[in-house]
Amino acid sequence: VTRSEFVVVANRLPVDRVVAEDGTASWRRSPGGLVSAIAPVMRSRKGTWIGWHGAPDEVLEPFDEDGMHLVPVKQTAEEVELYYEGFSNATLWPLYHDVIAPPVYDRAMWDAYVRVNQRFAEAAAEVAADGAIVWIQDYQLQLVPKMLRELRPDVRIGFFLHIPFPPLELFWQLPWRRRILEGLLGADLVGFQLPGAASNFVRLCRRLLDARYLKQDVFWDDRIVRARAFPISVDVHELRKLVARPEVRERAEEIRTDLGDATIFLGVDRLDYTKGIAQRLQAFGELFEDGNLKPGQAVFVQIATPSRERVEQYQLLREQIEQQVGRINGTHGELGFPVIHYLHTSYDRAELAALYLAADVMVVTPLRDGMNLVAKEYVACRDDMRGTLVLSEFAGAAAELKRAYQVNPYDIDGLKETLLTALNAEPMEQARRMRSMRKRVIEHDVDRWAHDFLAELEQPHNL
Ligand code: UDP
Ligand code: G6P
Repeated sequence: VTRSEFVVVANRLPVDRVVAEDGTASWRRSPGGLVSAIAPVMRSRKGTWIGWHGAPDEVLEPFDEDGMHLVPVKQTAEEVELYYEGFSNATLWPLYHDVIAPPVYDRAMWDAYVRVNQRFAEAAAEVAADGAIVWIQDYQLQLVPKMLRELRPDVRIGFFLHIPFPPLELFWQLPWRRRILEGLLGADLVGFQLPGAASNFVRLCRRLLDARYLKQDVFWDDRIVRARAFPISVDVHELRKLVARPEVRERAEEIRTDLGDATIFLGVDRLDYTKGIAQRLQAFGELFEDGNLKPGQAVFVQIATPSRERVEQYQLLREQIEQQVGRINGTHGELGFPVIHYLHTSYDRAELAALYLAADVMVVTPLRDGMNLVAKEYVACRDDMRGTLVLSEFAGAAAELKRAYQVNPYDIDGLKETLLTALNAEPMEQARRMRSMRKRVIEHDVDRWAHDFLAELEQPHNL
């Protein structure tokens, strides 16, 4: 094995191995914000990335890809079901997102979670050089910090949670609540998106583990564990290069023409029940009912990338959204003028950038979201100072993007009003808001996020 000074451990590698029916395999970019944020950091820092390659039961050798050294970790089909679809995405994901869907508590799922976390910890222990930095990512791997420390007390361990961390009143439900906290406390630094999440964590350590603490430092096992907020961000440099490409600009023009020069509302999300897709489509549909919008004058483009398709709640959501789209188009569309363009597929970076450039109103309305990179990507792409952003108060990004049109997505009337306000904003007002949001995103890009986290991790903090 090649030993590395800088190791990232995440459930997913940046590429996903897809095996077709006829057995031929190919690679595809993995979905989600974690990969969008970590990939540029890994490319510039030349570390090793340990993660799952997306194909059950397959054992793969380490390989290099796009300037990154990747070490695949195997998961059996049963582990995918119990650890990934089960404990990670049917238990932790809904629990950490305000129990928008009811979490499943199942002991076999928990056992698989422990087993797979142990495997990731062992892989990290094998790859890390003496005194290396090991940076563990997200809710799928919360036991790895402690497990890794037991195997390799010499390494420096950071953990970052990309999703919200729930308040005590919800976390309390988890039958394995102490084990999760102890797992995280194996790290030297535990990072969250927002200060409130860090406080939730410290408060829980005190209440559940009787740990001593001072401000955001927890005293545990003769060590100091720091809990801090580091709001994650986007690769501004990459996005600026993309929108400067003539073919991306042309593609944006083409999209506008194809949509009949209508006003474009845009949503880009994994098809996930945390994203508030139904609420935004409901509000949009009602604007036609009320006569505020006319078919042909305004369209909603909703990109819904397939996600976690074997988890029941995601199947239910897909049925619900697709019925809703059909109903709204059936009621308000006219021949040649559907009001919603719903695309259940994933797009590459260039096509997304063109869509961002073409959109008049970007609609980001999660019911709960750790950060939401789509909102920041939209802002980073709009160097023409045009376009408006409608943003849920419940996205982590709302703490930074104060000049977005902020909205409570549960309030359908408020959402309708905000969509109209954003639509009717004068160019001067659009520019004023965009300039202020761009300043924030450009100054706080993903490089700065990684730098801030790693600088804090490297600070000596001994008792
Ligand atoms: N994304 C993509 N192709 C798509 C849809 C989304 O590459 O078709 C990317 C998007 O640009 C963003 C990420 O997926 O970088 C989604 O991150 P976000 O934080 O918004 O949500 P998450 O999926 O992590 O919950
Ligand atoms: C969110 C999570 C990531 C996850 C991504 C895609 O961004 O924070 O950890 O990788 O969604 O979800 P998936 O289940 O496909 O990995």
